[in-house]
Amino acid sequence: MTTVAILVAAGSGTRLGSDMPKALIPLVGRPLLAWSILALDASEHIDGIVVVAPPGHERPTEMALGEIAEPLAVTIGGSSRSRSVAAGLEEVPDGADRVVVHDAARPLLTSDHISMVLAGIGDADGAIIAAPVADTIKRTDEDLNIVETADRSAHWLAQTPQAFRTESLVRAVEIALEGDYIDSTTDCASMVEAMGGQMRVVPSALPNQKITIPADLDVVAPLLEAREARA
Ligand code: C5P
Repeated sequence: MTTVAILVAAGSGTRLGSDMPKALIPLVGRPLLAWSILALDASEHIDGIVVVAPPGHERPTEMALGEIAEPLAVTIGGSSRSRSVAAGLEEVPDGADRVVVHDAARPLLTSDHISMVLAGIGDADGAIIAAPVADTIKRTDEDLNIVETADRSAHWLAQTPQAFRTESLVRAVEIALEGDYIDSTTDCASMVEAMGGQMRVVPSALPNQKITIPADLDVVAPLLEAREARA
């Protein structure tokens, strides 16, 4: 079984207020994306890594990876996350049975996440790491009047990594491109769901914060410092 990881790192970082692409901002002594590369490289299940770089920043991305791992390819991202995934899939070698897609914006990735999500595929098209919902969920109308309290036990916070049979994700991306809805999808699983594929949730309580706003860096940094201290 051959498994290739696609690390999507082509986001702009606008919400972080940085003029540098988010994946390249320094965090506890490394560019943000380097933390995910370390975990992917440490996983016994990953045979190669494709990195999707911010347009115009391929060289700094390659340099950020230099000392950690030699990727199969560094390719240029698209105008939306799912278009960046499509670009990454183009670089996945023939013969890769499974792909694992991960957001560079989640630097707390561990090899446990990767093992868990791959084991979760079973006979489905794919599986995702997801966290249970701790808060009560309210649905509102456009004026913020509450119209429903949802059953939180049936809802999950979708994270990455997300793992797929390669042929399922390739087909799902083709259909999303043909159907012109690719830019409205915010994760890969939703494209497989849209084509009628079967996706499964792997419940996870492992820390996996996504870096979106500056305050997220303050939450994640001490966890990475502790990890460095243990290494
Ligand atoms: O924007 P958001 O934080 O939801 O992005 C999730 C992940 O997708 C990030 O790792 C980001 O770098 C990546 N992304 C991408 N190409 C885009 C937009 C986002 O690779 N055009």
